[in-house]
Amino acid sequence: MKIVILENADAVAAYGAEIFKRQLADKNDSVLGLATGSTPLALYRKLIDANKQKQISFSKASTFNLDEYLGLDGNHPQSYRHFMNEQLFDHIDIKLDNTHTPNGAAENPLQAGDEYEQLIKSGGGIDIQLLGIGRNGHVGFNEPSSCLSSRTRVKTLTQATIEDNARFFSADEYQPHLSITMGIGTIMEARQVVLLATGESKADAIKATVEGPLSASCPASALQMHLSTTLIIDESAASKLADKAFYKHIERENQILLERLGM
Ligand code: PGA
Repeated sequence: MKIVILENADAVAAYGAEIFKRQLADKNDSVLGLATGSTPLALYRKLIDANKQKQISFSKASTFNLDEYLGLDGNHPQSYRHFMNEQLFDHIDIKLDNTHTPNGAAENPLQAGDEYEQLIKSGGGIDIQLLGIGRNGHVGFNEPSSCLSSRTRVKTLTQATIEDNARFFSADEYQPHLSITMGIGTIMEARQVVLLATGESKADAIKATVEGPLSASCPASALQMHLSTTLIIDESAASKLADKAFYKHIERENQILLERLGM
């Protein structure tokens, strides 16, 4: 795992955005795995700006989002499809037909997971997957106890996640308790993974992800087995890491090596 510890949330977004810009520059038909939540928003704004300034184009790219609420169709203002349209897709040159979210309104939600997996496969697989992380270590809606080889399927949300996400819903609004989410196995097949975390509230989850055992109690810990994962975190999210100084030292050494190689 590459662990990049930066001063603040803006630096985290900037570093993450550069990785996505480079990906699109290297491969304009990249398959991007995307995430909802508040953490990726600043990164999306930077990608929108880069697209407007014609530094990058999404015209040949396609996207797969991690998850969707079960029972909401894409027109519902609380659906993640709607969120993605509003926060990113409506502002860039992507073809909407090339953007995908799990079908939260599927007649048979048990089949919808398999269909999504097929779609990802026929799109060539995910080149780079963006992740946030829940306070309980979830990625996508893979809550603690999720099978570490799981595929896209229906998942029940924990009370903690429901409470964390309640801020997006008004008091009298229906808040779904079920989701369809890519599995940990699905995420592990992405060629590259970029996980962003900012703020004190994520410090325990980041400690468990990096320094805890590989365990379904912290689904993100599965990334210890992924060959190309970058964790981009701010000082607050890194505050409980026992070996923080060492991770910073590794990054400095990496920089020196890259400079020497002229990269
Ligand atoms: P957040 O959510 O970015 O809104 O903190 C992350 C997550 O729950 O995966």
